[in-house]
Amino acid sequence: MKEELRYLTFALGKGRLADKTLELLESIDITCEEMKDKNSRRLIFVNEELKLKFFLAKNPDVPTYVEYGAADIGVVGSDIIREENRRVYEVLDLGFGKCRMCVCGRPEARELLQHHEMIRVASKYPNIAKDYFYNRKHQTVDIIKLNGSVELGPIVGLSDVIVDIVETGSTLRENGLGVLEEVCPISARMIVNQVSMQMEAERIKKIIGMLREKIS
Ligand code: PRP
Repeated sequence: MKEELRYLTFALGKGRLADKTLELLESIDITCEEMKDKNSRRLIFVNEELKLKFFLAKNPDVPTYVEYGAADIGVVGSDIIREENRRVYEVLDLGFGKCRMCVCGRPEARELLQHHEMIRVASKYPNIAKDYFYNRKHQTVDIIKLNGSVELGPIVGLSDVIVDIVETGSTLRENGLGVLEEVCPISARMIVNQVSMQMEAERIKKIIGMLREKIS
């Protein structure tokens, strides 16, 4: 007798990435119609035919769900993966959600970065900021964690610079700020739970293979 397939669960980061991910999954015939209803307050969606489940989570929580096996597969930005540093396999660069992690500030702040001065750095990404300044630049800095609208930091005098994501650069421009240094490029990645990768190797590798073919 054929063994019942168990559900494979996807955790998708809410927002722009989720829409793009669903589009990509649809292109390999993995669909979830229920999920497209923007008015729905449901948290989990099921494709019974393919034995798949999907849920949307706050971006920083996606690697947590995947590490603990509450989701087998996750899709989230490499900024979050680096910041959260969870034990998961990063298996695929999906090629969308491209942006850059940068040190930004007023033009005058450039000087402060060149002389290893003790400066204040505001960021939603304290671990990435710490790694960049301590391990790559060998500069001791004071890191202040913020939860959003980080550009306010240098404007209201909370910090000298920020470490943040730059996509089009318009938030910076409109606020008299600019990119001072680039930390790393960012894009959406697929991550997989380490046990699921062994136990469901065949199904997961098939999905990765089909996605890789689509995006190449
Ligand atoms: C992100 C980021 C910048 C902005 C960059 O913020 O933190 O503020 O987008 O995009 P741009 O270069 O195209 O202007 P998000 O919209 O996620 O909100 P947040 O500031 O509240 O984190």
